[in-house]
Amino acid sequence: MYSETHVVAVCGSLRDESRTRIALEEALEASAAIGATTQLIDLRDYALPQYGLDGKDAGDAPELRAALDAADGIILGTPVYHGSYSSPLKAALDYSGRDEFRGKSVGMIAIAGGRFPTKCLEHLRNVCRHINAWVLPTEVAIPNANSAIEEGEITDPAVADRVQRLGKEVVQYAHIERLPQLMEESLSNHSG
Ligand SMILES: Cc1cc2nc3c(=O)[nH]c(=O)nc-3n(C[C@H](O)[C@H](O)[C@H](O)COP(=O)(O)O)c2cc1C
Repeated sequence: MYSETHVVAVCGSLRDESRTRIALEEALEASAAIGATTQLIDLRDYALPQYGLDGKDAGDAPELRAALDAADGIILGTPVYHGSYSSPLKAALDYSGRDEFRGKSVGMIAIAGGRFPTKCLEHLRNVCRHINAWVLPTEVAIPNANSAIEEGEITDPAVADRVQRLGKEVVQYAHIERLPQLMEESLSNHSG
């Protein structure tokens, strides 16, 4: 049913053992389980210098934008750094923007070593709003990440459920922008 929907996840951690990456992989598996095609953007594979040095096309920024442009739905995953989202994710967002995000459904996952990362999600939600994305209300906050994600998997079933739900919803709501048109078509079919 969703075979024409493509979901791209961006991992805001560059750590080899990143728990953010593990959560994103789980979300993308849930997207794929209902038919979507998926891609994980691992920012370790993209050379993205500090934004502003060489303009918007520095390093691998064109490749990053092309991957985001191909997405119908996007999942942003970030570790919490000092109460906010990470600098690698910020760089990725600075090298992209409205052209890649406008009208797309975006899911957010924040992973914290400590407490529930409310502020981090708020900050990221504001950025998504600024670039005209539809932010899904199922925001995933993973506090105490060291015990919620261990040895390469999510060990807390409630967290796993929520991550999977987000992966599914980013597919189900990927074309939310078309909703008014679909409603109008459906209403006119019924009245005709
Ligand atoms: C620079 C830095 C700042 C951090 N700040 C916070 C913080 O404010 N709150 C928190 O709960 N954890 C904080 N952490 C811990 C990370 O959020 C946590 O280790 C997370 O699991 C890392 O994600 P990753 O495994 O995907 O790299 C910080 C870690 C670093 C390196």
